[in-house]
Amino acid sequence: SKGNYKHFMEKEMHEQPEVIQHTLSNYIDFASGKVRLKSELPFSFKDLRRITMSACGTAYIAGLVAKYWFERYARIPVDIDVASEFRYREAPMEEGGLSLFISQSGETADTLASLRYCRENGQHIASIVNVQESTIARESDAIFPTIAGPEIGVASTKAFTCQLSVLLSLVILAARERGKITVEEEAELVQAVSELPKFIRQALKLSEPITHIARRLSKVDNILYLGRGTSFPLALEGALKLKEISYIHAEAYAAGELKHGPIALIDESMPVVVIAPFDGSYEKTVSNMQEVAARDGQIILITDEEGAKHNSLEDCDVVVMPKVPEILSPIVYALPIQLLAYHTADFMGTDVDQPRNLAKSVTVE
Ligand code: F6R
Repeated sequence: SKGNYKHFMEKEMHEQPEVIQHTLSNYIDFASGKVRLKSELPFSFKDLRRITMSACGTAYIAGLVAKYWFERYARIPVDIDVASEFRYREAPMEEGGLSLFISQSGETADTLASLRYCRENGQHIASIVNVQESTIARESDAIFPTIAGPEIGVASTKAFTCQLSVLLSLVILAARERGKITVEEEAELVQAVSELPKFIRQALKLSEPITHIARRLSKVDNILYLGRGTSFPLALEGALKLKEISYIHAEAYAAGELKHGPIALIDESMPVVVIAPFDGSYEKTVSNMQEVAARDGQIILITDEEGAKHNSLEDCDVVVMPKVPEILSPIVYALPIQLLAYHTADFMGTDVDQPRNLAKSVTVE
């Protein structure tokens, strides 16, 4: 039941602090400050030369965030592709690699076909699934469950942030096993992760200011999303979520790609959502944002207090997020992006939980 919520999507967004906590407790022992899995892995991160990821839609975007994490923190090269491309690409694979699949339903046809291709090509098969009795789970050597509970809204919200929480745990484990972080550094990361549910709760409180922005967005035809680093996949997720439930045309670009084409679209009728926590990419993203402002694009900046302080643009909307450790920002910044899509669609009066033309589980290619 939806309880006091208007839609399942709204309810599921608000469940995130709890289900993330629950999911994390399956991977992390907060008392000892260590990642600890419930069962032994059939492979070791230590000897891995490559991870190959494949998934669809929002699950693919979770994998894209994890590519940045695995490469930066655990120093493992990651290949990632949408499953519908990967399955036919005939990618050469070195035996003994790890193939990681991400799927809420565990039944997505293209993801399953990619899994079978990787098995035939001598890879270890691991999957992050929400439905543990699913086909993808059954055909995997290792299963990393998300404990998000049933997700009813067609637009994925809590499954996405739980997927990211599992991936982050695996990244920390991989970094430790590969000797890239010390015991102290692992404890620091685990301490940061332990604060995730609190940050998510704080982000949920931004629902009201975001509603005001959403009211305006519900009247436009096109929206652009920009981000750099792990905020780039978040931009992709923002555009996907908005398209799915509001039917507004939205596109996402890596902020640095702006001048290679999409800037031609910018005029006073084009809102641009800029995702820019105050991290190492902030200054560069903001200079891209200024190029948008100079062409009268309407900017919606999603940043933290420090980022808001450093923003010199007068005429722009700012969503001020709590300051969070950099490694957590892709999870916490998923919230304003979900809320923006949700409230925009709600103003438009679309069927938020069952958007036209979409199915929750895509079992045909
Ligand atoms: C987006 C969405 C879809 C799914 C995609 C994969 O909100 O729900 O893009 O993420 O169809 O589905 P699963 O995770 O079940 O493989």
